[in-house]
Amino acid sequence: MKELVHMLELKNLTKILGDKVILRNVSLSLDRGESLAVVGPNGAGKSTFFKCTVGLLRPTSGEVYLDGELISKNSMSVKQKIGFLGHESYLYSTLTPLENLKFYGKLYKIKEADKKSAELLKEVGLHLFRDMPVRSFSRGMVQRLSIARVLLAEPEILMLDEPHTGLDVEAAYLLNRILKEKQRRGTAILMISHDFEQVQELADRVAVLSKGKIADTMAIRQGSNLEALKEWYEKAVKGA
Ligand SMILES: Nc1ncnc2c1ncn2[C@@H]1O[C@H](COP(=O)(O)OP(=O)(O)OP(=O)(O)O)[C@@H](O)[C@H]1O
Ligand SMILES: [Mg+2]
Repeated sequence: MKELVHMLELKNLTKILGDKVILRNVSLSLDRGESLAVVGPNGAGKSTFFKCTVGLLRPTSGEVYLDGELISKNSMSVKQKIGFLGHESYLYSTLTPLENLKFYGKLYKIKEADKKSAELLKEVGLHLFRDMPVRSFSRGMVQRLSIARVLLAEPEILMLDEPHTGLDVEAAYLLNRILKEKQRRGTAILMISHDFEQVQELADRVAVLSKGKIADTMAIRQGSNLEALKEWYEKAVKGA
């Protein structure tokens, strides 16, 4: 029965590097049109958790199911279905934003990539800089372009590692508007953030990752109290 299949399901993901346990039995599920935020202190294992999910790192043990399919490293369906924004931009500094997007368009065999690229540049507010090499871009401009790159393939799941980093108020607002629209159309969103205001604004659910473990999860109601969210977080981190 299709409706019982989660868009993304992680079962007991564990990552051990040397003698250090980076992730310990992380289990999570995400459905279509759902938005889940992962919060936690620096070094908690959030980025490692994302990299294991998208196949950039091999988990020591545990499984990742994508739309019901058990996936392995370098799986094609991961590349097609998940749009991953990491700490690195994966952009070519000598190319212009338009050239970068067109390059990814070819790589991912995206239909009407040139047209979509131009539209996305407008959407993230980089239209006027479309012919400038990325090397001369500010951090916020790079982040805007990285977001456009991730959106180009129209993925079914967006996995965004601190997407608001470096964005000014206007760009952050723009990003949130784009994400809400994507979510409304059924895209599943998994996001790492240190910014509780953005978490409250965007997420339906929030999970605390601390010392490599899911310490607690909570549903976020619209108009819920930001201070209460922070208090709950502090408690979850202390208890981990
Ligand atoms: N390649 C690696 N080799 C050894 N240890 C690593 C490696 N990558 C990450 N770690 C360790 O794994 C832990 C988790 O790192 P990770 O980058 O996942 O944290 P994070 O929660 O994303 O932190 P931040 O909020 O700072 O981005 C850290 O203690 C880090 O030192
Ligand atoms: Mg990180």
